[in-house]
Amino acid sequence: MINLILFGPPGSGKGTQAAYLVDKYQLLHISTGDLFRYEMGNNTRLGMEAKRYIEKGELVPDEVTIGMLRNKVEMHPEAAGFIFDGFPRTVAQAEALDALLAESDQEVNALLALEVDDEEIVQRILNRGKTSGRDDDNDETIIRNRIDVYKRETTPVFDYYDERGKSQKVDGLGTIKEIFERLCAAIDKLQPSR
Ligand code: C5P
Ligand code: MG
Repeated sequence: MINLILFGPPGSGKGTQAAYLVDKYQLLHISTGDLFRYEMGNNTRLGMEAKRYIEKGELVPDEVTIGMLRNKVEMHPEAAGFIFDGFPRTVAQAEALDALLAESDQEVNALLALEVDDEEIVQRILNRGKTSGRDDDNDETIIRNRIDVYKRETTPVFDYYDERGKSQKVDGLGTIKEIFERLCAAIDKLQPSR
């Protein structure tokens, strides 16, 4: 099994790269942002609760996000491993993920952090907003808040896994293919756990 965290600020290409990586490594892609958008699209209770935070670019409370993630992981005992995209966003979420994986003798093998500077991110997200239909992609104030929240609450997750020898930085600038090849080079060096 191999469990990866695809890490990086909003708009750094996590979703794009995850789609290619699942194909090559036969892993299951879990994007908590996509799960929230699915719930919002169906006007579920969870979706309506999440919307209050997402529309401001804030984080949904840990217990809500962790519960949703746990459900999704437990639905797929057959998976050969997971790519977590957009999760964990806080150290509490990282601790919960480690505990969840430990229940089945699994662990996070690596956190791969896509590095992209702020101005490039704002441009990429505004550009994505033209077609994504996401309100949080179409307002520069919300986008900048998402970047601030990332720096304040999410970057400590990099340090958390770095202390465990698992974090690696990957240059997130270049073509999709170039970035994909950098990620594959990092993954191919990992030792899978059972
Ligand atoms: O990951 P993505 O950028 O698609 O997430 C969109 C929004 O969903 C975030 O800006 C945040 O409001 C919410 N989110 C969250 N906690 C997560 C993942 C996403 O609060 N772990
Ligand atoms: Mg995404």
